Amino acid sequence: MNFIKKRSENDFRNSSKSYGYFMGLFRKRNVNNLENSVEANGLKRKLNAIDIAALGLGAVIGTGIFVVTGQGAHMAGPAVVISYLIAAITSTLCALTYAELATMFPVSGSTYSYCYVAFGEIIAWIVGWNLILEYLVSAAIVASGWSSVFVGILKLYNIYLPDSITKSLLSGGIIDLPAVLLIIFITYVLYKGVSESSKINNITVIIKIAVIVIFIALGVPHINVKNYHPFAPFGLKGIMTASSVIFFAYIGFDTVSTSAEESINPKRDVPIGLMICMTVIVVLYLAISLVLTGIVPFMKIDVNNALPFSLAQIGINWGSVLVSVGAVVGMVSTLLVTLYGQIRIFMTMSRDGLIPSAFSKITSRNGIPGICTILTGIITGILSGFLPFNILMDLCNIGTLSAFVMVSIGVIILRKTMPNAERKFRCPGVPFTPILTVAFCLYLMAGLQPLTWMRFLIWTIVGLAIYFLYGIKHSTLNY
Ligand code: ALA
Repeated sequence: MNFIKKRSENDFRNSSKSYGYFMGLFRKRNVNNLENSVEANGLKRKLNAIDIAALGLGAVIGTGIFVVTGQGAHMAGPAVVISYLIAAITSTLCALTYAELATMFPVSGSTYSYCYVAFGEIIAWIVGWNLILEYLVSAAIVASGWSSVFVGILKLYNIYLPDSITKSLLSGGIIDLPAVLLIIFITYVLYKGVSESSKINNITVIIKIAVIVIFIALGVPHINVKNYHPFAPFGLKGIMTASSVIFFAYIGFDTVSTSAEESINPKRDVPIGLMICMTVIVVLYLAISLVLTGIVPFMKIDVNNALPFSLAQIGINWGSVLVSVGAVVGMVSTLLVTLYGQIRIFMTMSRDGLIPSAFSKITSRNGIPGICTILTGIITGILSGFLPFNILMDLCNIGTLSAFVMVSIGVIILRKTMPNAERKFRCPGVPFTPILTVAFCLYLMAGLQPLTWMRFLIWTIVGLAIYFLYGIKHSTLNY
């Protein structure tokens, strides 16, 4: 009997221990304790709606529109314009829900930090792990896209570099050297302590918009309506697949919401900034896709260098060079912002103890997280140098969309669990808007290949393994 009694006591102790362990997975951070609070970062409230819009445009316009449009056109035909519209609606919905969380917590970090406060550690870790796909992997994609456009410029001058040094290992070459060299350069710049500067950002935004407008203006007189027939050669499936891929072109709009804490009047400036940014992007993207598929039969669009090459095909070589050079300059700033964002996320996770503290160690000379910057550069360089563009892009999209699904669910839950918390920006139409956002995100995720889902599953399992082997034991919430 005693034996039995003892066992049941132990059972009780064990089960309460495992209950405690289980609850430990959901331990939360206190808003006031977040190390990267606005005050701790010394961020000043100085951005107005236009600055916020410019920040968004700087982060969003890049490889997506200059390169990926060609791939989308091969998947959907001229109906790629519908794909752009579907991806635009999804991004706008995501930005609206995201803005509510971004203005609710006084942190300049990203979704990872909000989830730590709202849902607890394990969810924050999974979201943070997926944000690596959004930032680090997308940096690798931007570098690869930059490389394609750069190689395209050289081709216009009859300089042909061998595939072995311009294509990644799994795309028929050995290494994408231009992409790797660009990442080394940007890592060096970041290591020297240069970060986002709103002046430089504004200049590159103007360059990017200018080349897009030039492309549209040069292309419109050459539109041949015959190229729009058949409009949707691959049907709804083609449009859906293209939307899932093209979503990449909108990634980066979350910078708008993240800047909420630095804005002079978030209630007014964030929605206005967001509206300006999304309107400009949607109008430009729709116009580009219409012009591109109108001037060249969609099957003849170069998937590696869509815009410049199509101008060359209609005989406007100078325009092709101009657009290429503008794109190359503009994409450098997209890469800078994206890598900087990744370093900031790694730093926050490291301060929370979920990854080694070396990631948040600040070098005394430059005042930046040195080891973190170098490691981020090395990993990005390896990804863009050796892995194919398409695999990276699908992974980036699925990771980003899954993070936004969490954000949208979070908005609904937090309206119930923290009804009185101040929200400087309230997403309109809750719970319908977040539910619609989740539906759109899932629709785009469903358009990605089963292989991408498999890779994403492996990625998530690796992430969970790291958490259970390292993060859970070293989290600063243990002390
Ligand atoms: N949206 C960004 C781009 O297209 C990531 O490069």
